Amino acid sequence: MLVLGIETSCDETGVALYDSSCGLLGHLLHSQYELHADYGGIVPELASRNHISKLLPLIQQIFNQTGVLPKEVTGIAYTCGPGLTGALLVGATVGYGMSLGWNIPIIGIHHMEAHLLATMLEPDPPSFPFLALLISGGHSLLVKVQNIGNYCTIGESLDDAAGEVFDKIARLLELPYPGGPSIAKLAQDGNPNRFKFPRPIINKPGFHFSFSGLKTAVSNTWHTLEPNPINRADVARALEEAVVDTLVIRTCQAIKATELKTLVVAGGVSANRRLREKLNVLAEYLNVQVFYPRIEFCTDNGAMVAYTGYRRLRAGQYQKNINVLPRWALDKLEPVLD
Ligand code: KG4
Ligand code: ZN
Repeated sequence: MLVLGIETSCDETGVALYDSSCGLLGHLLHSQYELHADYGGIVPELASRNHISKLLPLIQQIFNQTGVLPKEVTGIAYTCGPGLTGALLVGATVGYGMSLGWNIPIIGIHHMEAHLLATMLEPDPPSFPFLALLISGGHSLLVKVQNIGNYCTIGESLDDAAGEVFDKIARLLELPYPGGPSIAKLAQDGNPNRFKFPRPIINKPGFHFSFSGLKTAVSNTWHTLEPNPINRADVARALEEAVVDTLVIRTCQAIKATELKTLVVAGGVSANRRLREKLNVLAEYLNVQVFYPRIEFCTDNGAMVAYTGYRRLRAGQYQKNINVLPRWALDKLEPVLD
């Protein structure tokens, strides 16, 4: 089975080819960071238009690069949701056109499930069951994963996602978009002891997150300061520590409660070095094995979509009608029985 994966849920156009016997044959990505940089966040209409102009050339390029012929593709997977409606529709319509033209099945993929399965592309993948910490620009989730499609979300953000906090505070500090990498880079030069921001709701029962209070605390502090490089770096450092600690503490509580011995961390924020350092310490302390995708597959990409599509198409699942689901709960997915 040879699956073409298409990702257009947000601000990256990603394509990939996944082969059941050889694994990932190739993947390509076009990032829209420069397009949205002046606005400090994603402009949905610009995102959709850019996907339209970039997706077909990228698909052509992945065929040229891998030497695969279109007629060899046996299935298509595209991100069906959650995400920006217009952006999702680009991947959906291009995917459907190809599936009709080539007479092959197509499957719509849940973006967060694709993140969750990105570690399966590594040479030493995790085994089920496991606990997943999924942290992106739109979601912060703690999920009990029994098998593919068998998910129980035990914690989620009540307001902003972890990546969103980085992006919003970066905008406040006048740092380039996306905020996570900008904050992380600057934080390396920051003094960890100058400011201490809250680790919100960590003492409340359950495993939910809430980051809006932290955002307000950082903003209040920043407005009392001179906007110079030292203050910027110190605030970035304290913010990174607060977000990382909050994620690590909640994950620790969830591991203890579920007694799961495997942890999978994925989504854009899982690229954060400080988070990985602290989670590795936690995992050793709790005697848990922790898995991350390679850095380039933490953020959005076509490879994770192609792989997830392969697992679902292989199990006989496919879609009959063109469809996008801008809001879509992970726990509602169909289990994969293979
Ligand atoms: O998964 P992703 O590429 O897109 C969504 O599904 O949202 O995640 C993007 C998010 C952005 O908020 C970005 O600031 C954050 O991931 N991010 C990071 C890092 N790299 C990306 N956050 C912290 N540290 C990083 N190194
Ligand atoms: Zn994502």
